[in-house]
Amino acid sequence: MEQISDYLCRYKNYNFTIGHITAEYIDSLQSFEIRDSDIFVITYPKSGTVWSQQIIISICELGGGLNEYPNNMEQMPWLEYREGRADYSLRPSPRLFASHLTPALMPPGLKDKKAKIIYVMRNPKDNVVSYYHFSRGLADLETPKSFEHFFEEYLKGNVGGSSWFDHIREWHSVKDQYNILFLTYEDMVLDLRAAVTKICTFLGKNLSEAAIDQVVEKCTFSNMKKDPKANYKFIPETRLQGDFMRKGKIGDWKNHLTAAQSERVDQLLQEKLSDMSLKFIWE
Ligand code: PPS
Repeated sequence: MEQISDYLCRYKNYNFTIGHITAEYIDSLQSFEIRDSDIFVITYPKSGTVWSQQIIISICELGGGLNEYPNNMEQMPWLEYREGRADYSLRPSPRLFASHLTPALMPPGLKDKKAKIIYVMRNPKDNVVSYYHFSRGLADLETPKSFEHFFEEYLKGNVGGSSWFDHIREWHSVKDQYNILFLTYEDMVLDLRAAVTKICTFLGKNLSEAAIDQVVEKCTFSNMKKDPKANYKFIPETRLQGDFMRKGKIGDWKNHLTAAQSERVDQLLQEKLSDMSLKFIWE
């Protein structure tokens, strides 16, 4: 494991926040036993992870059979941050996990295509803005010197989770090897009910229209902000100042990026991902 700054370390080509992982644990994921009933949400950071957690948990709760946990982070923990938590092999099924990892770091058993993955992508202009604000509030991350500086580091992949562009490319390139549903944050904002319905179908959960309405209601930005299991207020203020649910909008990038910065992102998308026929919604 190579320390690359006061806040980041690099292992197997991926930047982790210092203090939350060990090389041994990341290596152990190569023999982590996957169950057919496992459900993963995988994202690049700040792409709608905690929102997707709330949707998946709410669907599974109504579908029946979920064990109780004090909050969403414990109900659907990050696979890569196991230190200090109970042994996942002892958890009852269905197990729910979140992860920001790339395919190479994930348990190979996921390729059996039985466990389910929901991958959520967010447009990189809003993603960098959300990441910038989060880095200002979370003690584990380096406080950005300025938005300009953070933007440059983000484009170079010098942040936790490495490069947004690589994450998107890597997951889309291996999609045939996994049982995976691709969604975008923007589609979720524009039509939450449609996204919930898609996720239900993918998970094989046959919820009534009224139950789907209930899930949608629990997963709106304003209701999540008030929901103590979902709003991450259980993270002490000494570690996180500000909110996990900050703005929850498409297009906040217009308040932060200059025209030149926006063009740089467009150019990089063209250079790095134009062959992947991805659709982006910017406002
Ligand atoms: S993390 O730290 O990687 O887990 O962050 P992540 O959850 O992936 O992303 C946080 C952003 O998701 C927004 N969010 C929502 N948007 C719309 N509706 C709902 N219900 C919702 N819940 C979370 C959250 O506000 C962060 O985006 P920004 O742009 O910063 O507001």
